[in-house]
Amino acid sequence: MSRTVYVNGSYVPEEEAMVSVFDRGFLFADGIYEVTAVLDGKICEWDGHVGRLERSLKEIGMEMPMSADELLAVHREMVKRNNMEEGAIYLQVTRGAYDRDFLMPKQVKQTVVLFTQAKKLTGPKKGLRVISMPDIRWGRRDIKTVQLLAASMVKSEAYKQGKDDAWMVEDGFVTEGSSNNTYIVTKEGKIVTRNLSNSILPGITRKSVLRIADEMKMEIEERPFTIEEAQNAAEAFMTAATSFVTPVIEVDGVALGDGTPGPVSKRLGEVYIEESVKASI
Ligand code: PDD
Repeated sequence: MSRTVYVNGSYVPEEEAMVSVFDRGFLFADGIYEVTAVLDGKICEWDGHVGRLERSLKEIGMEMPMSADELLAVHREMVKRNNMEEGAIYLQVTRGAYDRDFLMPKQVKQTVVLFTQAKKLTGPKKGLRVISMPDIRWGRRDIKTVQLLAASMVKSEAYKQGKDDAWMVEDGFVTEGSSNNTYIVTKEGKIVTRNLSNSILPGITRKSVLRIADEMKMEIEERPFTIEEAQNAAEAFMTAATSFVTPVIEVDGVALGDGTPGPVSKRLGEVYIEESVKASI
């Protein structure tokens, strides 16, 4: 069955949805996106996602396409029209269509698109095997732009090598996974994850998972770590809106711990989902 997508104020079958060939999202990756999980037909981490959307837009000189409440209403309508119980909602906001020019046009109507992907997000997780790859992305990774070619290339390279994902490395330290934040758990039980800066996306899942870990009295160190440190860790995991807490069991061919998902990742994953379902709206 065809999905219903949202394009600039209308809900239409996906086959009929259209944006201009002059859209700056298409020509310049001049746009921002957000990905929000849906559990039990409800929206997860709404405040976090809408807050980051506003910030990302501001950083590239754009305004919110509508109020946060109106955006939430569109998200909920998308869940309803697509009979969605579990999955992800993608929101794409671009600067709009304009005759091709590097100079950013001022008074252009933004393009606003939402689409859904119904899929099972909960349930047992297999541990991921990751490879390291140079981070060739731009210098403002804190902004969630639609410019995802480098991330797509490293993920595809990992698959080509029979692995699940790539951890990107810059100046000897891991930045992020292709579309997730990364963590190691040291043999002393300390959670280490890269500190926030322009080098990584401030993950919404990251924020909640660190809060949960803190409430569970786990020790957290926010600092960059190396691939070697990861290979010597007791366990590792990654977080993202659509994969929650996912264990990592191998880094560049080296198995972590006993090569199976570790207890810290499992526990944080369980609590995160419990809390997410409760807090979803
Ligand atoms: N990606 N880092 C990068 C580079 C990401 O693309 C993502 C999310 C994250 C995690 O952020 P959050 O916890 O807010 O989802 C970190 C989404 C899921 C995607 O592009 O599909």
